[in-house]
Amino acid sequence: MNGTPIRGDFRSDTLTVASHAMREAMATAEVGDDVYGEDPTVNRLQEHVAGLTGKEAALFLNSGTQSNLSAVLAHCQRGDEFIIGREYHIFLNEAAGAAAFGGASPWPVEVDSNGSLAPDDVRAAVRESDQHHPVSRLLCLENTVNGCVQPVELVDKLAATGRDCGLAVHLDGARLFNAAVACGVDITAFLDHVDTVSLCLSKGLGAPAGTVLAGDRATIDRAFRARKMLGGGMRQVGHLAAAGLHALEHNIARLADDHARAERVAEGLRAIDALSLTQDTNMVWVTPPAEHHDDLVAHLESEGLLGIFWKPTMRFVTHLDVDDAQVESLVDSFTRFFDSRN
Ligand SMILES: Cc1ncc(COP(=O)(O)O)c(C=O)c1O
Repeated sequence: MNGTPIRGDFRSDTLTVASHAMREAMATAEVGDDVYGEDPTVNRLQEHVAGLTGKEAALFLNSGTQSNLSAVLAHCQRGDEFIIGREYHIFLNEAAGAAAFGGASPWPVEVDSNGSLAPDDVRAAVRESDQHHPVSRLLCLENTVNGCVQPVELVDKLAATGRDCGLAVHLDGARLFNAAVACGVDITAFLDHVDTVSLCLSKGLGAPAGTVLAGDRATIDRAFRARKMLGGGMRQVGHLAAAGLHALEHNIARLADDHARAERVAEGLRAIDALSLTQDTNMVWVTPPAEHHDDLVAHLESEGLLGIFWKPTMRFVTHLDVDDAQVESLVDSFTRFFDSRN
């Protein structure tokens, strides 16, 4: 970036910084030692999320990764297998924690271009009971997948299929609120046949850290032990829980604004013939012609506009700290770059 001031940071919705009102809530939070179960704000957050998800209990964790891993450890024994979409975060981007810490191995199943698993493929992936086989124990779903909404009916069918096959079902809902807002439903619509759901507070919802795992009491008790093992027992962490509560109280419905801005980015870039792109919820994926990729990245960076510049496809994410003017700057910057090449 060579010291260029950042005019729009579209790399991820994890980049938001706490608003003034969120900081007030954090500063004034009533706290206690959460390892003793004595932090009233953490307890309030956990009860609130249990209510939002319609589950018996919930647990506040450091991160989405720690929450997913605690869930897998709560569901699986060593030698068990979990069925998961090949593109899903737990499989690709969580450092094989389930295998490293829990001795549970993933069985990745192909997903379609929307990130969706097919119920028949899930059924086919379940092992027959045989001394040679790992024990199929868990189905891991995700919503959204790379920004793509997994529709209610599909999630329901997949989860019901998992249960029918004797599996527990975990949903990595790092961005489940984005899916719910996009579908105009409550998050409980996705959760009828889901045993545990992980909800990140630090992505579109805008808290600086934290994820909540919800499920039945016995599973959450096992996840609580796993969290301790993973070094996730924290002390006066109500300051962070207060940020999470603030996020849940103020920042769910406004995810629709992020989606509208991502649509506007997509609309603007679709006017450029050279680009191919997809957009869903708050993510826009753009593939420029290979010969222009590096120059385009240099051009955007020189204007202080950041995405994640993977090759061949780059990603732009809208979030709380992206406004309409930044969206127009991004579209304008792309447009000028390709105009100058015609
Ligand atoms: C779908 C999904 N699940 C889980 C995570 C992990 O969250 P964290 O970065 O808080 O560990 C991410 C992070 O980006 C994610 O995108």
